Amino acid sequence: MQDKIKAIEQEIEHFEVKDKESLEQFRLAFVNRKSKVADLFNYMRDVPNEEKKSMGQLLNGLKQLAEAKFKAEQDRLMQLQSSDSSRHEDLTLPPMPGTEGGLHPITVVKNRFVDIFERMGFNVSEGPEIEDDWHNFTALNFPENHPAREMQDTFFIEKNPDIALRTHTSSVQVRVMENAKPPIRTLSPGRVFRNEAISARAHCVFHQMEGLYINKGVSFKDLKDTLYHFAKEMFHKDTKVRFRPSYFPFTEPSAEMDISCQICGGKGCNICKHSGWVEIGGAGMVDPNVLKNCGIDPEEYTGFAFGMGIERIAMLKYQIKDLRLFTENDVRFLEQFRHLS
Ligand code: PHE
Repeated sequence: MQDKIKAIEQEIEHFEVKDKESLEQFRLAFVNRKSKVADLFNYMRDVPNEEKKSMGQLLNGLKQLAEAKFKAEQDRLMQLQSSDSSRHEDLTLPPMPGTEGGLHPITVVKNRFVDIFERMGFNVSEGPEIEDDWHNFTALNFPENHPAREMQDTFFIEKNPDIALRTHTSSVQVRVMENAKPPIRTLSPGRVFRNEAISARAHCVFHQMEGLYINKGVSFKDLKDTLYHFAKEMFHKDTKVRFRPSYFPFTEPSAEMDISCQICGGKGCNICKHSGWVEIGGAGMVDPNVLKNCGIDPEEYTGFAFGMGIERIAMLKYQIKDLRLFTENDVRFLEQFRHLS
């Protein structure tokens, strides 16, 4: 018995664990319930009583030796494995270039727009891209068959001329006015559609951001203050703003809004056609007829509205010269904006 114990002890000591498989062999041979070591315990009953104690101690020593070696080898293999994979995966390295996505410049500008106006108490409202005549035109004071409807080249649905792709997100503001009580401060971002030939300067699908503020005593001064503040926040604190008289059926008085050219700083260049100014949108005091159409008393409330093209702002901000780049999804173009959030 003692010799057997000695022999197995030698075997255990010399057993070489190289990998998972040999570790398993070791376990089966020396640690398992049916191992050589466990088997030896069956012989204890043949050991004379006076030797039982010392033999038992020897045998337990053998069992502990086997278990300790198994545990030690198992730990060693695990460590090897983890240090092995850490050679491939250094978690401190920056990500592989080109694998990370980014926001589209239109989204970046839209988010910035919303940030600026949210701080002034505006919320965001959305509405359908397929609109009816009432929300896109009639409620906004476009008279039936009035040439003003032709200012915007509309995509009508052939079978039902009452339905069209919205030409502006003013339609969303009609929906807001119909459903809420003043004070109303809302921003309507979204896609709009106009039947125009696609070129570097025009597209049949683009994005707008319109804004509406209705309350008691809102004046043209509020409109100017708000849009001055916006221009400085969106572009640069030295950005200048000017308003030129204009016409929209839904505002009176109406204005076109220009900012000092971001490319040449107002000195004159190709982008601003040497005028130093570029147009970024329209604005005006909401026409009393529009308020009435939407169930708001124009004797009690006044308001201002504005609308801008998001692409136009992105073009000025990031010096993009061709409108088509926004929809072509060329990764070489999009990649340049990956750092923006
Ligand atoms: N809805 C106008 C457009 O799309 C923009 C605008 C909005 C002008 C609000 C004035 C006031 O052209």
